[in-house]
Amino acid sequence: MLTIAMAKGRVMEEAFDLFQQAGLPVPKADDLDSRKLVVSVPENELTFFLAKPMDVPTYVEYGVADLGVVGKDVLMEQSRDVYELLDLKISPCRMSVAGKPDSTLSPHPKVATKYPRIAEQYFKEQGQQVEIISLHGSVELAPIIGLAERIVDIVSTGRTLKENGLVEWCCIADITSRLIANKGSYRLKNKRIQKILGDLECVIEKEGNL
Ligand code: PRP
Repeated sequence: MLTIAMAKGRVMEEAFDLFQQAGLPVPKADDLDSRKLVVSVPENELTFFLAKPMDVPTYVEYGVADLGVVGKDVLMEQSRDVYELLDLKISPCRMSVAGKPDSTLSPHPKVATKYPRIAEQYFKEQGQQVEIISLHGSVELAPIIGLAERIVDIVSTGRTLKENGLVEWCCIADITSRLIANKGSYRLKNKRIQKILGDLECVIEKEGNL
């Protein structure tokens, strides 16, 4: 049996599309429409865990999942002890600094984010002293209601920023989803993992993305 922790949300649909194109087994639509968290494809000895993106590297590091599919944003934030095997080139977005359109910042501005480590490292590199405030979501609220002057967050279409009167100040990193592996599983189940890797690489190459 091989287990794959799949990040629920925006990544999942595109990831299963890619798996399907690669001829890899995917869960039945009924299972994906349900609230099941563990979804098996028994004929292919494959099980998917449908997990919160931030938890995918944890499941993989601890070896309860052999593989994981998760955004580079999560991997950058956590530096987990896992192998990053492949850039799947799906769910592209940016990690950006955003805020109200005023360009002037106070000397020690507050920065709200779901990514405190990325934000801290970025502002440190810029030589800018900031106070990081950790939030769990809807981070765009922070500048609107006066909690923070800037946010560090994912920008995909830019719609959330625009509809809340915010602007992107700069891009910290380009983000796509990645295939990760538990280090022990990579050794013990190498043949099977290499086959999955090869099948996925073929599709990504064919789409001219690799
Ligand atoms: C993400 C991100 C932004 C939004 C950006 O949030 O944190 O809020 O998507 O997407 P856009 O540029 O296409 O508008 P998500 O939907 O994951 O929810 P969250 O804010 O609750 O984390």
